[in-house]
Amino acid sequence: MADLFQDKAQNWDAQERVRSLSNGIGTALLNRIAFSESMQVMDFGAGTGLLSGHVAPYVAQVFAVDTSPAMLAQLKAKPGLQGKVETLCQNILETPLNQTFDVIVSAMALHHVEDTSHLFQQFAQHLKPGGQLALADLESEDGNFHPPEAEGVFHAGFDPQLIQSLLKQNGFEQIVFETVHTVFKSGVAYPIFLVSAQLPKP
Ligand SMILES: C[S@@+](CC[C@H](N)C(=O)[O-])C[C@H]1O[C@@H](n2cnc3c(N)ncnc32)[C@H](O)[C@@H]1O
Repeated sequence: MADLFQDKAQNWDAQERVRSLSNGIGTALLNRIAFSESMQVMDFGAGTGLLSGHVAPYVAQVFAVDTSPAMLAQLKAKPGLQGKVETLCQNILETPLNQTFDVIVSAMALHHVEDTSHLFQQFAQHLKPGGQLALADLESEDGNFHPPEAEGVFHAGFDPQLIQSLLKQNGFEQIVFETVHTVFKSGVAYPIFLVSAQLPKP
């Protein structure tokens, strides 16, 4: 599979817009989820590990799952994440992991997966009973957030009602939405949501 982030990886963290977005999502995530030091967490579409870095100090281990070797190479080179963040270069929609997690987090990766319902089904299968999900991505947008030539972009943001109904269909409850950040591009505001949800407790 071609690495669509090969050319972006090296300068990913140098972008002020990316860092500010990650800080906005990371701060909201830490306010929303009560992380604890025994927890195993998956960061889906972890990229260079910006979100993993927010969560790692508060949990036992973060598993940074991504299909881009180039993005994960940037993560692996960060001394502050070593020993706490393990990388897995795998498409869990095609090859699920033989492991379950207490929490799955994700920032700005949902719009890169075509079949959102299948993704949520996989999330449910990768969570322990009572496990939590916290996902951040674009709210429905005008289609101009990404340049027209961008590959691997399947959604122009998401309608919260659709996300809510897909989460319910895949067994999630206690669904909470909040707009946690706004990205400004060419004078247009692009709101970013954080949705959290939970599987039923045993
Ligand atoms: C916009 S980047 C966001 C990276 C990081 N979460 C951040 O906020 O900086 C999207 C990431 O999702 C990854 N991705 C796309 N499809 C994926 C899939 N099916 N499984 C895992 N990662 C995927 C890409 O390789 C990329 O690193």
